[in-house]
Amino acid sequence: MSTWQDRVVVVTGASAGIGACLAEQIAAKGGKQVLLARRDKELSEVAGRCGEDALAVVADVTRREDLSRALEAAIERFGHVDVWVNNAGRGISRPVSELTDEDFDEMMLVNTKSVLWAMQTVLPHYRERGAGHIVNVSSLLGRLPLAPIRSAYSAAKHALNALSSSLRLELRDTDPGIHVSVVSPGVVATEFGLRARHGGYDSRGMPGAQSPEEVAEVIVDVIEHPRADAYTRPIYRDLVASYYAAEDLGARESLPPFGPPKG
Ligand SMILES: NC(=O)c1ccc[n+]([C@@H]2O[C@H](COP(=O)([O-])OP(=O)(O)OC[C@H]3O[C@@H](n4cnc5c(N)ncnc54)[C@H](OP(=O)(O)O)[C@@H]3O)[C@@H](O)[C@H]2O)c1
Repeated sequence: MSTWQDRVVVVTGASAGIGACLAEQIAAKGGKQVLLARRDKELSEVAGRCGEDALAVVADVTRREDLSRALEAAIERFGHVDVWVNNAGRGISRPVSELTDEDFDEMMLVNTKSVLWAMQTVLPHYRERGAGHIVNVSSLLGRLPLAPIRSAYSAAKHALNALSSSLRLELRDTDPGIHVSVVSPGVVATEFGLRARHGGYDSRGMPGAQSPEEVAEVIVDVIEHPRADAYTRPIYRDLVASYYAAEDLGARESLPPFGPPKG
């Protein structure tokens, strides 16, 4: 893959937050894109700002048929897909002791199964072309127990990471032209917190929250330079490494930045 002008990217969750910023950055680089989300008005506004090389497809990523329809729309409009960014996701504000089956099922459906289905949807197209890139937006909570209130979301992102690595290994020898990447942001200043299942705090007011533009820049870099794993701040990689290197995880969890929020 050479220039942005040749590149066709699918972005899920493009009506707001990180996905909307990513769409605008792709447009600024001259890429072609298909933007997915459920809210028609918000999605159309983002697509409108991105110009005529952006196609909006109203779609719910928790429906396999919507994902197939999006792939077909992309091929019909642009001829093929090079990159599929699974960015749509939703949080939860409920600790493990209070989780219902519905809580857990929704977190797995929107954050994990939807991505499994998207990967299965685009893979035959990539295999036919002998090339393609899947970029899965995970979370630092997919690696570390930093927020017990996000419990089932954290579990769903851990599962997403496992599926991503498993697919990468599955394809390594048979399909070397297909890349699978995971991008892990920390807290990002979007409506994510407010839109979490059972509500919750506004991520935009959290200390140290990263801007969605900064996170989108990392995703753009991963598209330009495919790699297995990227954090949106270098310190996150160090934190993950130090957590798993600890001989006593319990003792490590009693130290900052782990444990329940203070005050
Ligand atoms: N913000 C953070 O602190 C943070 C931290 C780490 C990782 N992340 C991850 O980053 C990604 C983007 O989050 P964000 O912060 O940009 O959140 P956001 O502002 O709430 O945006 C979420 C996007 O996902 C879309 N979406 C949700 N459910 C969907 C569904 N069933 N089908 C299609 N689209 C759906 C929403 O669009 P519609 O409602 O219009 O469908 C929206 O465009 C998520 O995967 C999230 O887990 C966020």
